[in-house]
Amino acid sequence: MEKPMITVIGSLNMDLVVETNVFPNEGETVLGENFQTKPGGKGANQAVAAARLGANVHMIGKVGDDENGHALLNVLKNEGISTEMVEKVAHVNTGVANITICNRNNRIIVVPGANNDVTPEYVKQFADKIVESDFVVVQFETPIETILYVIDLCKKHNTPIIVNPAPAQEIPVSYWEKVTYITPNESEAAFLFDEEMKAKLDEKLIITMGDEGVSYVDNNVRKIVPAHSVQVVDTTGAGDTFNGAFAVALAEKMDIHTAIKFANAASALS
Ligand code: RIB
Repeated sequence: MEKPMITVIGSLNMDLVVETNVFPNEGETVLGENFQTKPGGKGANQAVAAARLGANVHMIGKVGDDENGHALLNVLKNEGISTEMVEKVAHVNTGVANITICNRNNRIIVVPGANNDVTPEYVKQFADKIVESDFVVVQFETPIETILYVIDLCKKHNTPIIVNPAPAQEIPVSYWEKVTYITPNESEAAFLFDEEMKAKLDEKLIITMGDEGVSYVDNNVRKIVPAHSVQVVDTTGAGDTFNGAFAVALAEKMDIHTAIKFANAASALS
């Protein structure tokens, strides 16, 4: 079978990860346990998940022309991801994410840097590539005008698109109606949609709920695919893995229930 083609338009960050036994209060200093620098960014994480699950993945984004940017490009290339549409920009740093992990929960602050330069004008030059994809995936760590441009482009060409609204930001309601699937977590769903809107979005809305599983609508009934019982090491990027795997499963024409089960399993493994 030919590999499905997935295009991820989104963020690349270097994650600065601190593990601690206690989150500091305001004005307080605590001692941490461990520090690591890891490749990340919701876009890059989704691209890696899709590539590891056998897709032909193209990434569209930007990094700074700096050590972190070069390292991230190497990681993507080593995963077999096409980086021809990832530009190195000289005037701004690569995005970074300050991640604190405590009791297996995380708190993340992203400084987008070069990700903010992923403008509609930049992405437009790759429109032909985008619309010939089997699935397109976007998240909200690049400018919102770019996301809206990509949603319109995909709608116009009937190209299926998954919108992972993380971190949550409101967009005009008409845009939610144009996309194929929306994949918020519980808190993003609560921020973005009231019950009326949730009902209206119906089968488009797939809500990931951590250890409570994934909620989706099948034949007008909201159902839950339960989470796998795993020993949690670090939940960072589990949602990104879900999205990358979900795109591959749908591109391989799995039905919605099977696609969610597949993505749920990939996310548990991550
Ligand atoms: O979803 C996890 C990701 O969010 C991290 O890799 C970090 O870079 C932030 O973008």
